[in-house]
Amino acid sequence: MSVRRLAEDQFQPAAFAFNDENATWADKTIQKYPEGRQQSAVIPLLMRAQEQDGWVTRAAIEKIANMLDMAYIRVLEVATFYTQFQLGPVGTRAHIQVCGTTPCMLRGSEGLMSVCKSKIHHHPFERNAEGTLSWEEVECLGACVNAPMVMIGKDTYEDLTPERLSEIIDTFDAGNGASITPGPQIDRHFSSPEGGPTSLTEEAPKTKTRAKKAETEAVSAPAAPTEAARPKSTDAETNAALKTPVTAPKAAAKNAKAVEEQPGVAAPVPATAKPSLEDKNRPAGIDKPATPDDLKLISGVGPKIEGTLHELGIFTFAQVAGWKKAEREWVDGYLNFKGRIDRDDWVKQAKALAKGGEAEYIKVFGKKPR
Ligand code: FES
Repeated sequence: MSVRRLAEDQFQPAAFAFNDENATWADKTIQKYPEGRQQSAVIPLLMRAQEQDGWVTRAAIEKIANMLDMAYIRVLEVATFYTQFQLGPVGTRAHIQVCGTTPCMLRGSEGLMSVCKSKIHHHPFERNAEGTLSWEEVECLGACVNAPMVMIGKDTYEDLTPERLSEIIDTFDAGNGASITPGPQIDRHFSSPEGGPTSLTEEAPKTKTRAKKAETEAVSAPAAPTEAARPKSTDAETNAALKTPVTAPKAAAKNAKAVEEQPGVAAPVPATAKPSLEDKNRPAGIDKPATPDDLKLISGVGPKIEGTLHELGIFTFAQVAGWKKAEREWVDGYLNFKGRIDRDDWVKQAKALAKGGEAEYIKVFGKKPR
């Protein structure tokens, strides 16, 4: 496994910016994640930055960290962990990742690396004289059944010999990489045996009953929709479907009754309705101050939740810090959070932020807010 560090300063550009198309894509991608979970977009954004510039620069890491409100070190950790991310300039036409893990090694990966050394550069991550090719050794890429193999871009090239890899490298260097079919480079279909199936090669003879049954099924079964004809569900429909219990209503009722009847087992708690705005436990609101606190510094509060809190007259850390249990439960129910306010300990976070801002938060929690 190679050491993964950022490239030397001499290679690092001063700044990074997504181009217009990628910036629009990045905004949409970030919005796919639930409130407060935008950091989950870190891997897709890093990959898009790499696709744009060829490798992940320090400036790109910092830009993405700022976009996702993450500490630089957290994004650096992700970029340095996954070998899919290149941390220095690589060949402009191909960067060849040679699997050197045991199955590939036993099937000849050392020969593949020798080809890379002789055709590209003796050292991994160094580019050839024209800057078009580079290579590295990586750990298992999950195609061991067709070892040895390499990955170039998003495709794998399997069942390689040194000669075949040499041809592939030449083709990429000539700018014709797209003409090569990825996958096995021998007479093998996906991961089937070389030369075709060796077992289950004949269909089992059908008995009279089975043949009749198959005939009936063929006549009565509706034709399976093609992928093109399949109705596409929207995100909203998918979300609604996910929220729908899998158990049929009758069966669900039966199960609930069975649970109720078990001694010592509490009956399922029915879903609670949204608490009333007139409820006595609703926390007291205030008029919007000239400089409201940035409630998004509380882990679990995103821009949308902050907007809802503002509608309730909640603008300061001090207000949140003063919530009693009943008030927390009211807000939790209003936001349909199912206990998240206490799990994320908003009150403790708000107390620290009210007392001494980010510095106090770091003192209490050992990390920056959010
Ligand atoms: S060992 Fe090479 S792909 Fe798994």
